[in-house]
Amino acid sequence: MVRIEGLAKSYGSTPALRGVSFEVPRGQVVGFLGPNGAGKSTTMKILAGYLAPTSGAAYVGGIDVAADRVATRRMLGYLPENNPLYEEMMVLEFLEFVSEVRRLPKEGRSGRIKNAVERCGLTTVMGKDIGQLSKGFRQRVGLAQAILHDPDLLLLDEPTSGLDPNQIAEIRELIKQLGKEKTVILSTHILPEVQSTCGRVLIINDGKLVADDAPERLAHGEGGTVSVVLASRLGSSLEPAQVQSVLERVPGVTSVQAAQGEGAGTLGFTLRYGTEDPRRELFEAAVRSELALLEVRRQHVSLEETFRRLTAGEAAPRASDPKPQPTA
Ligand SMILES: Nc1ncnc2c1ncn2[C@@H]1O[C@H](COP(=O)(O)OP(=O)(O)OP(=O)(O)O)[C@@H](O)[C@H]1O
Ligand SMILES: [Mg+2]
Repeated sequence: MVRIEGLAKSYGSTPALRGVSFEVPRGQVVGFLGPNGAGKSTTMKILAGYLAPTSGAAYVGGIDVAADRVATRRMLGYLPENNPLYEEMMVLEFLEFVSEVRRLPKEGRSGRIKNAVERCGLTTVMGKDIGQLSKGFRQRVGLAQAILHDPDLLLLDEPTSGLDPNQIAEIRELIKQLGKEKTVILSTHILPEVQSTCGRVLIINDGKLVADDAPERLAHGEGGTVSVVLASRLGSSLEPAQVQSVLERVPGVTSVQAAQGEGAGTLGFTLRYGTEDPRRELFEAAVRSELALLEVRRQHVSLEETFRRLTAGEAAPRASDPKPQPTA
């Protein structure tokens, strides 16, 4: 449905995209992540035909966007970053206006509008001025204009930005529904959104693609932590340094930090691991050292941590690094 090949774009002498390539097959819902200024909106504008690349090419449905913008725009719906709307128009009036601009066949226009309005939950505000609507409803209007011509591809640039948690949940649900039948590229800064909505994540940083994978693989492939609480099996008191060195020698464990225990006679630690789950080896080491494991709790690295590591440059912490100390 979408193919991007070596896409580069500079604004004057500022490079915004430095050779981005990816493909999105029909039906996929893709999360497009990246820090501010990474090049997400630039990529979407090029795909939508509103901006020409400096080099490289973007194809929608096999057609080069630069060669035939009219044809490619017919196949896609675009919700731009700031969702520009005509504030003084009524919702219905605006959707009629968009139909006119898009030259949708007069016949069946009202049916299309009705369909978009119903899908986006706008029935109760049809006669209201857009300027009077809450942000959540404005986003719905933006989505309605994007799906009016029933395109196969939706480009949604931060559709939930600036919304309250209830509105976010509503818009997210709407996108999920749309994703059942359409190809969607969704840019967002809300990482849980991607985990709940998208089957694939692209991460862009400084104009370059730095990750392309399923959200759970991006998160879990990075390892995580195991929190443990230990006591002595013999009822004797524990020597923290000794226990720590036992834990450090468990295969798979990359670092050990003291943490909260559970009261007298117990010690708590946080173990970090890379790709290998250390829990089996941990049980065996505990038995050998006469330690009782009162608690073992594993946590995967979150998508957020992976995102930060991939986009924060050299200084970003890895899962295997000790936790940063707060600075004074
Ligand atoms: N019209 C413009 N003129 C000059 N520079 C621009 C213009 N639009 C974007 N840029 C620059 O291009 C780079 C990429 O911007 P872009 O808007 O694509 O990022 P983004 O990933 O969408 O960021 P955000 O998360 O803040 O929306 C940034 O450095 C930005 O300052
Ligand atoms: Mg943007």
